[in-house]
Amino acid sequence: MAERGAPLLETRGVGMRFGGVKAVEDVDFRLEEGELRCLIGPNGAGKSTFFRCLTKQYQPTSGTVLLRGRDVTRAPTHAIARQGVGIKTQVPNVFDGLTVRENLRLAATARHRGRAIDEACDQAIERLSLKAIGGHRLDRLSHGQRQWVELAMVVTSRPALILLDEPTAGMTHAEVEHTAALIQELNRDSALIVVEHDMQFIRSIATGVTVFHQGRIFADGTAETIMRDPRVGEIYLGKRNLLS
Ligand SMILES: Nc1ncnc2c1ncn2[C@@H]1O[C@H](COP(=O)(O)OP(=O)(O)OP(=O)(O)O)[C@@H](O)[C@H]1O
Ligand SMILES: [Mg+2]
Repeated sequence: MAERGAPLLETRGVGMRFGGVKAVEDVDFRLEEGELRCLIGPNGAGKSTFFRCLTKQYQPTSGTVLLRGRDVTRAPTHAIARQGVGIKTQVPNVFDGLTVRENLRLAATARHRGRAIDEACDQAIERLSLKAIGGHRLDRLSHGQRQWVELAMVVTSRPALILLDEPTAGMTHAEVEHTAALIQELNRDSALIVVEHDMQFIRSIATGVTVFHQGRIFADGTAETIMRDPRVGEIYLGKRNLLS
């Protein structure tokens, strides 16, 4: 049963072991409706593993995952998607030989019927500023543009929650800035969890930050307080703080 007033997403004691390796341990995490949160932490901290426990690419080996109070720990990925969780994984599920609009139509067809398909496409194109390249084939796009098309595909389903693992990986500085602006636009309608390394990106979206370290939540706070926190700086290669 869905609980009234429950957070959009909650994990209780979530852990993930691979043989003897505890990649994620005892994570209590909460995300409210409409919230935007970045997950950061040094390499191997457990960010991607935790993320995959949320997308259900992994079945956590302990703990509980709740969506709006409903236990989805054992639910498969497609069941989660039906509850309005959009996931942009690093495996591109786009078709190179098709145009941006055709790819969006395919994504929208999974969720809408009739006129609503084109409406969802138009809206996604508008929100992700893709109008100029709507007729371009995917194999003609830059790396950054492809990432934005994938984001637009997620948006066609109008998800309550969007999960992104390193959306700016491999992007130029200008592309990172544009992506930060797009993510803020998406946050008008959806909550987001973004795993990200790029501190400039995190600062420019000025969001809540959860720091992972050795499989556990190490700190929580605003981007500014986290980046000035010497304890957080220390777990990143002994930096004084994340700004130095
Ligand atoms: N499939 C797997 N099998 C065994 N060990 C794994 C597996 N996936 C992750 N690990 C281990 O779990 C720990 C956490 O890895 P994870 O990929 O979640 O870290 P991360 O925070 O995403 O790191 P990065 O910043 O490098 O992406 C690491 O010690 C990693 O080696
Ligand atoms: Mg990772």
